[in-house]
Amino acid sequence: MADQSTPEAPAPGADSPGSADSVRALGSEDSVRAPGSAGSASASGSAGALGSTSSERTAPLASPSGGPISRRRLLGTAGATGLALGAVGGAAGYAAAPSAEADRTTPLSSVGADQVMFHGKHQPGITTALQARGHLVTFDLAAGAGRKEAAALLRRWSETARRLMAGEASAQDDTDVARDAGPSSLTVTFGFGYSFFARTGLEEQRPDALDPLPDFSSDHLDKARSNGDLWVQIGANDALVAFHALRAIQKDAGSAARVRWQMNGFNRSPGATTQPMTARNLMGQIDGTRNPKPTDTDFDQRIFVPESGSGDPAWMRYGSYAVVRRIRMLLDDWEKLSLKDQEDVIGRKKSTGAPLTGGSETTEPDLEKTDSGGRLIIPINAHARITRPDQNGGAAMLRRPFSFHDGIDRDGVPDAGLLFVCWQADPLRGFVPVQRKLDRGDALSKYIRHEASGLFAVPGGAAEGEYVGQRLLEG
Ligand code: HEM
Repeated sequence: MADQSTPEAPAPGADSPGSADSVRALGSEDSVRAPGSAGSASASGSAGALGSTSSERTAPLASPSGGPISRRRLLGTAGATGLALGAVGGAAGYAAAPSAEADRTTPLSSVGADQVMFHGKHQPGITTALQARGHLVTFDLAAGAGRKEAAALLRRWSETARRLMAGEASAQDDTDVARDAGPSSLTVTFGFGYSFFARTGLEEQRPDALDPLPDFSSDHLDKARSNGDLWVQIGANDALVAFHALRAIQKDAGSAARVRWQMNGFNRSPGATTQPMTARNLMGQIDGTRNPKPTDTDFDQRIFVPESGSGDPAWMRYGSYAVVRRIRMLLDDWEKLSLKDQEDVIGRKKSTGAPLTGGSETTEPDLEKTDSGGRLIIPINAHARITRPDQNGGAAMLRRPFSFHDGIDRDGVPDAGLLFVCWQADPLRGFVPVQRKLDRGDALSKYIRHEASGLFAVPGGAAEGEYVGQRLLEG
């Protein structure tokens, strides 16, 4: 646990869920505000997890129990006292409806008050800072349901997502599970799988980029837990808020679609570390250091479908492609390795995430450096060496995973690992070349197993008054 107080500034990829500012959504279009604030606070210039500078991220944490008071916390106070709730959505949100016993002046903590905007150029949940809880769920359209039913469903889902992300109740039959909580950085993101297009008679609109991923020799894929017509990613910094959204989305599906599979994940909770830092995975590694950052000049080009000229259908403008892999970690084997062996597998220090060739988490690794015996210090098959864009024809992706733990399986080993979600403008230039390389010889491969897979076209964000996917379904 000593690692968690690493004195150095966290990497630009820092997840930093605990920072008062870090839970902001990132990217100029993916902004966040506190309930009750009169306008949306642009994320640019904020200490957001995926794109902030280290100086921005060294701000001390604000905790519900005290410490420095953040701007958002103040906004949360405004929201709770109902100063400007109309600006958020015009409806009384949970945050504005304290129980009779509650003190009406008690502000939400910054965690509860954080709100990510539903409408925007891109859908939320892509550049948004990692949330503590996540649900990935796919639906197949029911027999007899086609384009019309799908359009109605996406309209219902979008309205539910918009309301819940603003901290409001569902339009109908709300379950009260999120009552008392603020939006808690809830995001709901929608995508379409390959099979959706035949089901809805929209084959001509199916992007080539959705062609099924190639088989990889190390795959152990469970078809029942792979792919699906429609994909929904839910993330929030509160477990009940995330569950509430999941139930609302499932109920909205009604008779139009049935759940195909569901996976539940988590990340570190806001406030758990003394300063913002990149997330750790269940192998204990700092994971996410070298993610592309929204401040990179080529970030949009790598992650989002451009306005034109990409060969994608027009409805995918400003969208992205999500590759989802349920990757089991063979933790019993991994944990038997010595620290040195674990670090050689990745090529980075477990404690700080620094390259084995020295420096801090953000230091550029020296891939040529050898020890006194002439051996490469970062082994030739180290994961962090062979996944680099410069080793893969420039391939890059934004990794935004959740960890999972589904108990102990029949063999008595933990059913735990990574719900690997990566985002890119083109999976053939992002995930595929890197996974091909990993499949051929990654030191990490011995300790992981890909158990399920999905590829989804995630359209751009909905404008005000629009629903997600409207340009496809009504185009
Ligand atoms: C359970 C499975 C995995 C674990 C535990 C894992 C862990 C890590 C760690 C610790 C790093 C170094 C820190 C960082 O830059 O984030 C890293 C880097 C990276 N990983 Fe993985 N990884 C896994 C699977 C994958 C998969 C399936 C892919 C893609 C096919 C992938 C792509 C990358 C990339 C692109 C980088 C950054 C390379 C760079 O830009 O320098 N990883 N991973």
